[in-house]
Amino acid sequence: MSRIVHGHWRLAEWKLSAQELLKLTGQVMELGVDTFDHADIYGHYSCEKLFGDALALDPGMRGRLKIVTKCGIKLATEKFPDRKLKTYDYSYDHIVASAEQSLRNFHTDRIDLLLLHRPSPFFAPQEAAKAFSHLKKSGKVLHFGVSNFTPVQFEALSKYCEEPLRTNQVEISPYCLEHFDNGNIDFFMKEKIEPMAWSPLAGGRLLNPTDDKGHRILGVMKEVAAEMNIDGVEKIAYAWLLKHPAGIFPIVGSGKIDRIRYAADALGIDIGEENWFRIYNASKGRELP
Ligand SMILES: NC(=O)c1ccc[n+]([C@@H]2O[C@H](COP(=O)([O-])OP(=O)(O)OC[C@H]3O[C@@H](n4cnc5c(N)ncnc54)[C@H](OP(=O)(O)O)[C@@H]3O)[C@@H](O)[C@H]2O)c1
Repeated sequence: MSRIVHGHWRLAEWKLSAQELLKLTGQVMELGVDTFDHADIYGHYSCEKLFGDALALDPGMRGRLKIVTKCGIKLATEKFPDRKLKTYDYSYDHIVASAEQSLRNFHTDRIDLLLLHRPSPFFAPQEAAKAFSHLKKSGKVLHFGVSNFTPVQFEALSKYCEEPLRTNQVEISPYCLEHFDNGNIDFFMKEKIEPMAWSPLAGGRLLNPTDDKGHRILGVMKEVAAEMNIDGVEKIAYAWLLKHPAGIFPIVGSGKIDRIRYAADALGIDIGEENWFRIYNASKGRELP
């Protein structure tokens, strides 16, 4: 996987034709970003197919990139009139059926990384592990992981899996420090798990703050950018994630190539530890104890 990942959650909002999406994908890959993050449910079950249809225009493209997707959330939408409410389903049957549907949507024979989207209060890890085993043996999925899991949930699933879980995709940004506080980041370090960070710009709120915390963080990031003579405060946010020793993989959510480029540029920026702590402190609203 490339260290910077392009996220396709908002893909349907970008209103791109298949040709335009193929062009954007080529531009993203020229930046060294070869990994694309999906979920079965993105765009009300439309985004995987939008990407698959774009890839189908260039038969060589699939072999040059990696596809991450997720399963487990069952939305109650008009597409599934039998569902009365949203549930999570990590049964063997649902995981296998969902992965097979993803393969059809992407017009491919393999998913590079399949994640369980969210932990469920009704979870049988042995069922999920059995599905992983089947998907691995049939070559339909190469690697497995989770998203939004706690360390205990990660360990519970790991106990039943034949192969190590590759990642835990969680929200991390200068705005969202939740996983520094709940033990997950320490767990990643202990287990040598490289996390993927969703909403690295807090869904855009880092650039357009709506509260005091956001204003504090943006103010400090602007100071750091000015002191380092860096244009684009977004680069400071990505560099903050990349600086952390856990080896975080930021998932960029923008549909605009110039904004995606900020993330790739950040790979060449070392903000230094003191600046890392300035941004951390701005988020916390206080200095270290
Ligand atoms: N596992 C999970 O539970 C989970 C949850 C959420 C997301 N994800 C993954 O993480 C990816 C990234 O999440 P995200 O989209 O929330 O990431 P993000 O990069 O934090 O936010 C992207 C949003 O910020 C906007 N933005 C970017 N730069 C901006 C700027 N300079 N000024 C104003 N707005 C700006 C983008 O708009 P433009 O497109 O106009 O640039 C877009 O709407 C998703 O695509 C998905 O793959 C996973």
